[in-house]
Amino acid sequence: MKKTVILIFCSIFLVACQSEAAIQRENETITLFNKNCAGCHGLELNGTGLASGIRGLKKKDILNSIHNGEINMPANILTGENAERVATWVAKQK
Ligand code: HEC
Repeated sequence: MKKTVILIFCSIFLVACQSEAAIQRENETITLFNKNCAGCHGLELNGTGLASGIRGLKKKDILNSIHNGEINMPANILTGENAERVATWVAKQK
């Protein structure tokens, strides 16, 4: 009985820590986007006078744009894992 109670408490604790970490990770990704992309595409991804909105795109296409650049968008503003994370996050913003 005691063991079960301890086990349940440990599980709740672990789940809480994991979601905390996931939220922190998402916030880091948003910060990456805000610093590197929002200047042209807008904090809400709806575009600015400099570039169009980038909602509803596929991850593969977003990564492609980051790696190869676009007219008036330099290539490789982000690379590696950071590019992956931002592309995944942008693709989730419908
Ligand atoms: C210096 C301004 C600038 C910055 C910074 C910038 N972009 Fe762009 N981006 C553009 C322009 C200009 C285009 C091409 C024309 C358009 O879509 O308005 C473009 C195009 C794109 C496209 C293709 C849009 C489509 O409809 O196919 C994607 C995706 C994209 N950018 C994502 C990003 C991401 C992610 C970042 C941050 C890593 C970023 N951009 C940073 C200016 C910028």
